[in-house]
Amino acid sequence: MNSLAIYPGSFDPITLGHISVAIRAAKVFSAVQIVVVHNPNKVALFSVEERVSMIHASLADVSTPSNISVSTLESGLLAEYASAQAASAIVKGFRTSADVEYELPMAKVNLDISAIETVFLPAEPGLGFVSSSLVKEVARLGGPIEHYVTSAVRAELERKLQN
Ligand code: PNS
Repeated sequence: MNSLAIYPGSFDPITLGHISVAIRAAKVFSAVQIVVVHNPNKVALFSVEERVSMIHASLADVSTPSNISVSTLESGLLAEYASAQAASAIVKGFRTSADVEYELPMAKVNLDISAIETVFLPAEPGLGFVSSSLVKEVARLGGPIEHYVTSAVRAELERKLQN
């Protein structure tokens, strides 16, 4: 059976933790679509286009499976988007208990709207503390980020923070 998983997020920027979740989801589902969502509740460092481009570069960097694609959602409900794509599930990564508090209400609302379940994958040991916010903060302060993002993202962060 063909099964599509939608993996949504801000991905500002994508981290090795996100990539790990996408690769592992691609073993469970026939296809995984990473969806870069414009989240009006967050001030983004990168434009949606820049984030998509970094995701493509990062996937190429780590030679990811070919059943992972990248898309965008600039407005509207994720649940409706997932329905329109005939998705089997929404995939999210779980790191700490803070993610439980944040993710469970969204999973419930998305289920109510679309009857599409959210499937959670635990963070890979060693990547459970990596977040886009932390990566940006460390990069702003000139710290090392090579253990958290691909070299493509690192180069883009350095370029962005120089301007
Ligand atoms: O990486 P993030 O910012 O934590 O991801 C949150 C995101 C973008 C997945 C969430 O805000 C979302 O789904 N936004 C789309 C609009 C929507 O459907 N909102 C209702 C969520 S229940």
